[in-house]
Amino acid sequence: MGTHIILIGFMGAGKTTVGRCLSRQTSWPLFDTDQMIEKRAGMSISRIFEARGEEVFRGLETETIHSLMDREEDWVLSAGGGMPLREENRKLLREAGQVVYLKVNPGTVLHRLQGDTTRPLLAGGDVKKKVEDLLNCRGPIYESAAHIIIKADDRQPEDIAEEIMVAVRAHLL
Ligand code: S3P
Repeated sequence: MGTHIILIGFMGAGKTTVGRCLSRQTSWPLFDTDQMIEKRAGMSISRIFEARGEEVFRGLETETIHSLMDREEDWVLSAGGGMPLREENRKLLREAGQVVYLKVNPGTVLHRLQGDTTRPLLAGGDVKKKVEDLLNCRGPIYESAAHIIIKADDRQPEDIAEEIMVAVRAHLL
C-alpha cells in the first residue's frame, strides 16, 4: 500500500493550501473530499446542506473515504472539517493513512474566512461565537483522530508541508 497523508482540522485551517504544497513536494495526487462530493452530487456543499441536510452530507463524506481506500498509489487528502466527527470516519481515516491535524486558533479561522459564503455551518449570526463554540467542541475530536498534530497559525504552507513530511517519515519508521 502507498503512503497516504490525510489532513484534518477546522474550516480555514489551511488543509487545501497545505495539501497543494504537499502534493507539489511529493508529486502525489491531492484529493479534496468537498470537491469530490460536489462533483459526485452535481451541486455545491451549501446546496447539499440546504436541499438534503447535514446527515446526508456526512454520509457522502464516509463514501468518499471508502472510494479512496481502494486506490493503491500514494496520495494526499484534504478532508472536510467535519469529517472526523463520526466515529466511523475517524476509524476509517486512521486505517487509510497518516492523519495530520492542522491546529489553529479561532482568530486565524476568523481572519481567513472573512467574507466567506461557502461554509453553511458558519453562515449568519455571531460567526465569532460559532467558530469558538465549534472549535471548543471539535478540538478534542480532531486530536483523538490524529497521528500527528501540527500548529498551523501564522506559518507559511510550504514550511508546514515540510514539517508534515518529516513527521510522517518519522512516524512510518
Ligand atoms: C465543514 C467543513 C467544510 C465542508 C462543510 C462542512 C465542517 O470543509 O465540508 O462546509 O463541518 O467543518 P472545509 O473544512 O474544507 O472548509
